[in-house]
Amino acid sequence: KKPELLKVMISGAPASGKGTQCEFIANKYGLVHIAAGDLLRAEIKVGSENGKQAKSYMEKGKLVPDEIVVTMIKERLCQPDVQENSWLLDGYPRSLSQATALESSGIRPDIFILLNVSEESLIERVVGRRLDPVTGRIYHLEYSPPENEEIAARLTQRFDDTEEKVKFRLQTYHQNLESVLEVYKNIIVKVNGNSAKEKVFNEIDAAITAVVEKKYKAQSTS
Ligand code: AP5
Repeated sequence: KKPELLKVMISGAPASGKGTQCEFIANKYGLVHIAAGDLLRAEIKVGSENGKQAKSYMEKGKLVPDEIVVTMIKERLCQPDVQENSWLLDGYPRSLSQATALESSGIRPDIFILLNVSEESLIERVVGRRLDPVTGRIYHLEYSPPENEEIAARLTQRFDDTEEKVKFRLQTYHQNLESVLEVYKNIIVKVNGNSAKEKVFNEIDAAITAVVEKKYKAQSTS
């Protein structure tokens, strides 16, 4: 029987570093990175009906309704690359109803990573964040500056990355956090996300390694 693959969820406030850490995790563990926010922005970009609806919620820092998000994630999880390599879910589930929808389909992670970052840093990270539309990489004007002029010239900013909008995104996050944590309480690993990104990854990596060892040990004895 094929061994069951590692499954990871990552959560944290807006701009806490989820996407940045997912680059490291996906690279090392070969998991498919599925970011709810990225999928929604892709819908907006192609101008789909779902994208149009989603944008009005995202602009207010509110959760996009389940009718759109739950199906979008479920469909992504069924695709062949995910079936083959397993998943790393970023920014999903973000509410009790989303967590319950996954649970009722038997979709459960081995580890739930929660990034903790001070509110002051979050604002700073949001305001300085830039994205490379060509590679999809995440930069920060001060903390992760682009490697050269060519990249610097093409960087873009997200429409919801303003100090004013992040306050609404934070509010939404705090309203829903406890109910999501309750579902995953036995597998939560809290990580200090205030340090440099490499250091944060070291902490995450150690936690995932421990989970992987335990998982395969259990599988080899069963
Ligand atoms: P989403 O796109 O998920 O946004 P978010 O949760 O606000 O998180 P971010 O993507 O802003 O930040 P991040 O934690 O990935 O940080 P990053 O690594 O980029 O969601 C957007 C919207 O979509 C939501 O508001 C909602 O409307 C909707 N949505 C999404 N999911 C949904 C769901 N499940 N249900 C309903 N609606 C949903 O880092 C940020 C910056 O900091 C970067 O510039 C980076 O370079 C820098 N940085 C990262 N780590 C460090 C470090 N250690 N030190 C210094 N700088 C760092």
